[in-house]
Amino acid sequence: MRILSGIQPSGRLHIGNYFGAMQPAIRLQDEGDAYYFIADYHSLTSVQDGKALRGFVRDVAIDFMACGLDPNKCVLFRQSDVPEHCELSWILSTVTPMGLLERCHSYKDKIANGISPSHGLFAYPVLMAADILIYDSDVVPVGRDQKQHVEVTRDIAIKMNETFGAGLLKLPNPRISETTAVVPGLDGRKMSKSYDNTIPLFEEPGPLKKKIMGIQTDSTPVEAPKPVEGSNILALYKLVASQADYDTMVADHLNGGVGYGDFKKRLLQAMTEHFAPFRARRDEIVADKDYVEKVLAEGAEKARSVARKTLGRVRAAVGLGA
Ligand code: ADP
Ligand code: TRP
Repeated sequence: MRILSGIQPSGRLHIGNYFGAMQPAIRLQDEGDAYYFIADYHSLTSVQDGKALRGFVRDVAIDFMACGLDPNKCVLFRQSDVPEHCELSWILSTVTPMGLLERCHSYKDKIANGISPSHGLFAYPVLMAADILIYDSDVVPVGRDQKQHVEVTRDIAIKMNETFGAGLLKLPNPRISETTAVVPGLDGRKMSKSYDNTIPLFEEPGPLKKKIMGIQTDSTPVEAPKPVEGSNILALYKLVASQADYDTMVADHLNGGVGYGDFKKRLLQAMTEHFAPFRARRDEIVADKDYVEKVLAEGAEKARSVARKTLGRVRAAVGLGA
């Protein structure tokens, strides 16, 4: 089973990215032949500072490995080290109906959030389709917001196969981890860097405390029972606490007598403990200066040999080259 996923290097990773995208991908590395890449071509649609982009790419690689991604079990690479993605993207774009892209929520949401509508942003799902199809991927683990893009990928593959020959491209399936599909942010909306409500994965202790103590709550008095439905403290706690500790916090909500300040302190402690081993691993990775580049270079070589073969097959089918 070929597994493939990508993550954009467009800023500091947050715990929504971790539970929604990284943890499921890391778990899957034991179940098949996994290819994970850092989508720097995609990030050009939002990051227009070369030095910053290069730094984000490195940080994503470091963070991903610190959280358990093992380059001996999967292939980790930088998208732009495999330029074949772009060539396939162009070929796919010639069979992609405009209407298919016009329907994409992600594009519409980004425009609504004030991002200027470039051609790259509009064509983003076609590049994503190329990323997926060039590895003959079976399974694509992504957050719920990316499901539509995998469906678009299937539509494009179907169109290619109808036009240039059955079986030319393999149809992928999305894999959404339903249990942690949406991690709430500090203000209760979906955690997202566009809402400035995130808890960064490797936040320093001081700012982490400030963020958690600043989580928005209602004004129920200490002694009164507190609502469990829709509580973002509980939703976040569930991700990092043991079942027993979580059950205790639920009971304390229902019984009353414990204030939100206390709940936040428990959350802070559980969060700190949960990520402590990752933090230690991160320090080790950072200390070995050449390690990250070495991993990415080896990953690129492996990925590129697969990508070249698929692209060769497609070029032959559509009539490019001699
Ligand atoms: P952001 O919303 O912060 O810009 P991205 O869109 O770059 O995050 O998301 C990268 C990956 O992380 C995607 O697969 C997305 O589904 C997942 N993800 C992002 N935010 C969350 C969240 N709050 N809950 C669950 N998954 C998330
Ligand atoms: N669009 C994805 C996101 O924003 C990142 C991505 C790019 C991706 N190419 C991909 C994910 C291919 C899975 C497969 O999260």
